[in-house]
Amino acid sequence: MSIAICPGSFDPITLGHLNIIRRTSKIFDEVIVCILNNAAKTRHMFTVEERLDMVTRAVSRYPNVRVEAQSCLLAEYAKRFPGAVIVKGLRAASDFEYEFQMNLINKNINPELETMFLTADGKYTFLSSSVVREMAMYGADIKGLVPNELIQEIENKAKQWRN
Ligand code: PNS
Repeated sequence: MSIAICPGSFDPITLGHLNIIRRTSKIFDEVIVCILNNAAKTRHMFTVEERLDMVTRAVSRYPNVRVEAQSCLLAEYAKRFPGAVIVKGLRAASDFEYEFQMNLINKNINPELETMFLTADGKYTFLSSSVVREMAMYGADIKGLVPNELIQEIENKAKQWRN
C-alpha cells in the first residue's frame, strides 16, 4: 500500500494546502496529513489541538486521508511508515530553496525517506497561511482562500489577536 505524508504547520490550512492534499490522495492509497510546529515560526495563531480539529474537518470529504499532530522530527516520524513518501507543494522558486534544504536535512536523519513535490495550482501560487493570517487580522475577506467552514473561527481568532 502506498502512503504519502503531507507535513505542514497548517496555521491555518488554506485552499492551496487542500488542493495538494486532494491531488496527493488520488495518487497514493493513503495520505497522512501531519501537523508539526515550524521552529522558524515562533508564534502560532492556532494551537496544535485547534489545527488538528480544523484540518480534520477540512479533509473529512477524502476517505483515504487522515490527520495526525506530532511534536517530533518529521524524518523520525516517517520511520514508522517504511516506504512512505513526503509530498509537499511548491509555489515558486523561493519555496524550492527551502524545501530542498529540508529534504537534505530529512535525508540526513532518515536516508530511506524520499520527498516528492507537486507544483501548486496556478490559482494558489500567491496563497500562504501567513497571507491568510495577515488579511484576517486587518479584517479583509478571506473567502476563497480557506475552507468555507473555517472562515468564522479564523476571523474570530484574528480579532482576538488584534486586541
Ligand atoms: O507549513 P510549513 O510551516 O512550511 O511546514 C514546515 C514543517 C512543519 C513541515 C517543518 O518545519 C517540519 O518538518 N517541522 C518538524 C520538525 C522537523 O522535522 N524539522 C526539520 C529538521 S530541523
